[in-house]
Amino acid sequence: MTSQKDKFWWKKAIGYQIYPISFFDSNDDGIGDIRGIIQKIDYIKYLGVDLIWLNPVYRSPKIDNGYDISNFQEIDPDFGTLEDLKELIELLHQNGIHLIMDLVINHTSDQHPWFIQALQSKDNKYHDYYHWVDGDANHLPNDWENWSGDFEWTFVPHLKQWYFHIFNSKMPDLNWENPKLRDEIISMIKWWLEFGIDGFRLDAISHIKKMPFDNLMADVPSDKDKWSVHTNVNGFKDFLELIKNVFSQYPIFTVGEASGVSSSLAQIWTGEQGYFNSIFELEHNIHDETDLNGRPIGNRFQFKNIIDRWQTDTRSFGWMSPYLSNHDNPRALQTWGDNKSSKSAKALATILLSLQGTPFVYFGDEIGIPSFNFQSIEEINDPEAHIKYDSLITKGENPQDALSEIGVWNRDQGRSPMQWNSDKNAGFTKGTPYFKVNPSYKKVNVEQQIKQNDSTLNYYKKLIALRKKNSALNDGEYYGIESNDQNIFAFIRKAKDKTTLTLVNLSENQNKFVLPEKILNFNWHPLINNFIGNLKIEKKISLNPWNAIILESDDYE
Ligand code: GLC
Ligand code: CA
Repeated sequence: MTSQKDKFWWKKAIGYQIYPISFFDSNDDGIGDIRGIIQKIDYIKYLGVDLIWLNPVYRSPKIDNGYDISNFQEIDPDFGTLEDLKELIELLHQNGIHLIMDLVINHTSDQHPWFIQALQSKDNKYHDYYHWVDGDANHLPNDWENWSGDFEWTFVPHLKQWYFHIFNSKMPDLNWENPKLRDEIISMIKWWLEFGIDGFRLDAISHIKKMPFDNLMADVPSDKDKWSVHTNVNGFKDFLELIKNVFSQYPIFTVGEASGVSSSLAQIWTGEQGYFNSIFELEHNIHDETDLNGRPIGNRFQFKNIIDRWQTDTRSFGWMSPYLSNHDNPRALQTWGDNKSSKSAKALATILLSLQGTPFVYFGDEIGIPSFNFQSIEEINDPEAHIKYDSLITKGENPQDALSEIGVWNRDQGRSPMQWNSDKNAGFTKGTPYFKVNPSYKKVNVEQQIKQNDSTLNYYKKLIALRKKNSALNDGEYYGIESNDQNIFAFIRKAKDKTTLTLVNLSENQNKFVLPEKILNFNWHPLINNFIGNLKIEKKISLNPWNAIILESDDYE
């Protein structure tokens, strides 16, 4: 926003992630679009958030829902036009709301004109915009494989060359070693900033530099991540500096998707001297735990400890963007809540909105949409899930078991359309929705929750308003509090004149929190509680299942 004077406006902002394809369909073709967001600005204002992160709306064949871009400076016709986007930005700005977009510069779509040209011949001027290794179809250039277990190379017979791709074979990686490519990216970034957006979320930014391809994953020492061959590789800081030089000329907000970055390194990556204003850590969404049936589950205890460490490490230096789930994960309500109750949705909200940093709410979490439960593999769009499913079938697993393994933890679980009302298709579209609407919409929807005073939505609204006006929740430093019960997440936010204490019982059991002596010596009064009734502040505070409370003190030291 041009009228914005304060360079650090984002420190007070509350973010809202919109996955546009699933937000609101304005022309009934079944696909959410930019004009759909325009029609819902009043809702965004009602919620009270003031910073939107819009997932990709660029021109794209949508193999990976828009992260495979075929033109960086055009809007995909499914989503609308550049004029629509301009209008959206103007309307948001008139309401004091900023908008950031995804910046996807690790790769393009294979339909990008650069790649189409690059395929023509080895001496085409765009050939070096990508990574190539000479060879024959029977010998992969190296043993690098990605998170889905796929090799990261595809052979092009007429060139007798392999090209490199960390993600899908239809998403070739850009060659950042080439200065011409870097220049193109820099001018594209400037073009968008001049267009009037307020910053970027930097997609897969940790991967823009690769080790020389003769390094093998098999040789990576066992105490290191095998993906270190293309994650935060020495020398990539030079690339980040280049981008940062452009960013620093604008009063914008940037948040990096910081794969492989440790909480201690977050201080260097972010803050006033960092590459970005802020980062999203990926650690709390790692799901290597399984339940009794061998299905992946989120571990609440681990979640609490991971968040606590990131907050502690960035208390005085650096700046985080806390979030629960996003478009790459099942919904938080499934992972750390009970996947159904409004109480557990509110408990999670209380944690998110009282942490330090610039928090982001994932669309739909504010009404407590549960994770999607898939009945067949055909219902899943995500290519990552299909690759995993196919490999289970190849290993001899029967389709039902393979589906139940994939079905409980995949990226599409949190991507179902927004639930606006109890009409057909949850009011998301009057056409045929591109993705099945979550059957919960009859009960869980915006229209109903606006009317209901104690709804999840109105609780979010209250929390957001509270964070805006409370100096401790807004600016305070984070101090974790050790708790007697591993399911209780307890922490303090301390500003000069005010302190808050957040207590959340992340379990379906009644629990008692033993208040540390030091805290007991001061005066506390409740600011918000997801249960009705008077809270007694005493040595042992009794917490109901999923109880979440924020207390405030003016004299705490
Ligand atoms: C990021 C995005 C994810 C995408 C990937 C490749 O991780 O969040 O959705 O598939 O990058 O662009
Ligand atoms: Ca549409």
